[in-house]
Amino acid sequence: MTEKSEALDLRRLTGALGAEVFGLDLRQLDDASFAAVRDAFHRFSVLAFRDQQWTLDEQIAFARRFGALEKHPIVDGMKDHPEIIKIHKAAGDAATFGVGWHSDNSFTEKPSLGSILYGVEIPAVGGDTLFASQYLAYEQLSSGMQEMLQGLRAVHSAKYAYTAPTAREKYEGNTTISYRYSDEVEAEVVHPVVRTHPETGRRALYVNPMFTVRFENMTEDESRPLLDYLFRHAAREDFQCRLRWEVGTVAIWDNRCVQHTALDDCQGAERVHYRVTVQGEVPA
Ligand code: SIN
Repeated sequence: MTEKSEALDLRRLTGALGAEVFGLDLRQLDDASFAAVRDAFHRFSVLAFRDQQWTLDEQIAFARRFGALEKHPIVDGMKDHPEIIKIHKAAGDAATFGVGWHSDNSFTEKPSLGSILYGVEIPAVGGDTLFASQYLAYEQLSSGMQEMLQGLRAVHSAKYAYTAPTAREKYEGNTTISYRYSDEVEAEVVHPVVRTHPETGRRALYVNPMFTVRFENMTEDESRPLLDYLFRHAAREDFQCRLRWEVGTVAIWDNRCVQHTALDDCQGAERVHYRVTVQGEVPA
């Protein structure tokens, strides 16, 4: 069943989050249509649009309507389009990028506001992306736990995601994605464990297993039990939606209130997406 919402024709993906939007060509949105897309983005946190055909420049132009674009501090952008990462898994390879729950670039001072991913080469089966609402993750904690988390901040770093022994291979050119070692890999930043979304005013849990390494002023060992609980809780099935990709699907998601993970279950097939991320603000 589809519903009309804020002038868009859409179908919700699950009760938790996500919607598929019909009948739009993202290259040609007038201001009113873009405002409706942005409203739906704030309401559903993940939007999918099928059958889009755009160039890299058109993807960049669409993304800029949300704000300034980022260049990834570790993963190389495309040669002529440094804002775009080509996420390429060759047939026979295991997926090396985006597998494991995370919020994009939470290891930076101003983590990504949103990401815009365009499906170009899609396996016949597998390679879906899962998303989980961190609004629900926060809202469904007990009041006691919510209160305790309000006072906590956590350290985020790319150091495990990008320096584990397997990740080192990335710097030696052994993957289909090109990485560059920089101080950003080891850097640590501190963010609140619960953040308030600047547009919706809703609170969201903001820790993820890929980049959150400990609570501020605590050791990793001390932090581990509670972090492990929060990571499990944050990815609960009833907080999720699942996107099945098709060639031409564009997905946009809100990293301020969503975690996501690519699924590495299509080893025999090639999978290619182009990703642009929009610069966010210091989490509040
Ligand atoms: C990402 O983490 O940005 C990539 C997700 C995917 O490839 O499905």
